[in-house]
Amino acid sequence: MLTKIGKTKQDVIEAANYLKMGELVAFPTETVYGLGGNALDSEASKKIYAVKGRPSDNPLIVHLSTWDEIHSIARPTPAAKKLYEAFCPGPITMILPKLPVVPDETTGGRNTVAVRFPSHPVARDLIALAGVPVAAPSANLSKHVSPTSAEHVYQDLGGRIPMILDGGECDVGIESTIVDLTGENPVVLRPGDITAEEIKRVLGEADYYKGEIKEALAPGMKYKHYSPSVPCYLADEKSLKTALENLTEKGINAVVIATDDTLVTLGNCPAISLGSTPREAQHRIYGALRDSERYQAAIIEDLSDKKEYFAAMDRIKKATGGNKL
Ligand code: TXA
Ligand code: MG
Repeated sequence: MLTKIGKTKQDVIEAANYLKMGELVAFPTETVYGLGGNALDSEASKKIYAVKGRPSDNPLIVHLSTWDEIHSIARPTPAAKKLYEAFCPGPITMILPKLPVVPDETTGGRNTVAVRFPSHPVARDLIALAGVPVAAPSANLSKHVSPTSAEHVYQDLGGRIPMILDGGECDVGIESTIVDLTGENPVVLRPGDITAEEIKRVLGEADYYKGEIKEALAPGMKYKHYSPSVPCYLADEKSLKTALENLTEKGINAVVIATDDTLVTLGNCPAISLGSTPREAQHRIYGALRDSERYQAAIIEDLSDKKEYFAAMDRIKKATGGNKL
């Protein structure tokens, strides 16, 4: 299959027609690129799992363009409305009780549905023109690094889908914050640009999920995620240099992924910068992980002691599996 890269308004109309016909298209959001299909069409959802090679018990996020559309797929709670008013459109996903119209294939057989209102104008246009809720996981092959540019999507899914809408580099760079609103208190299942503290300010309550990842919770969390195709390791600022030397001695051409402040202390070595702020680190991490695939290994700076890097570190821990040298 030939994959068209779309950029014009006409291309967005064409992409919306693909969605209406039950086909899949990739599109930009402010977080990462999504692989979209009609969320109400079980065959389209099945295609999403097949194209990504994703386990079918890992449910999809349903993307909407306006609040009113929520009543066609979910039973929103007062907390959902408050979060919508505070953060949407934007990088937050809410887990809510679902309506029967949403097929089991979309929600992995759950009685809940994940709902998100992306802010990227191309995503909003696409959903509005398609006139259906759009199920979309990140547009990467299962277990690989999430895509933050149309080129990343092409690397993974080129030839597998008819169209990729190119909306430039994603602003946020890591996936949306997921908050479960079906329990007594809101629980953040996946950290993102919007923090539990910010949610708490709006709802009065909210905590990060701390327990063991069980089947019943965000199932995606139990899988290996966000990993480049080369081995990658975690090292704190002080041990980066020795880690690099160890690998070099073994004849392994490794790259260091770290913040600018740390990189200047290392001197001349193969390096990919995470910038100098938590937002820059979030924006750059997935591109950095993909770029590291040009080397034989990657050593990533452990930023766990800096609270503001919590969301970026969540992805770094998943990419490295917490492995140290
Ligand atoms: O930023 C994002 O959220 C991106 C863009 C494309 O919108 N999408 C995304 O989708 O990250 P995906 O499929 O890669 O991650 C969806 C996560 C998975 O961990 C999944 O288990 C969880 O959402 N999820 C979906 N529905 C759920 C539900 N009903 N209950 C609990 N977790 C759910
Ligand atoms: Mg994903």
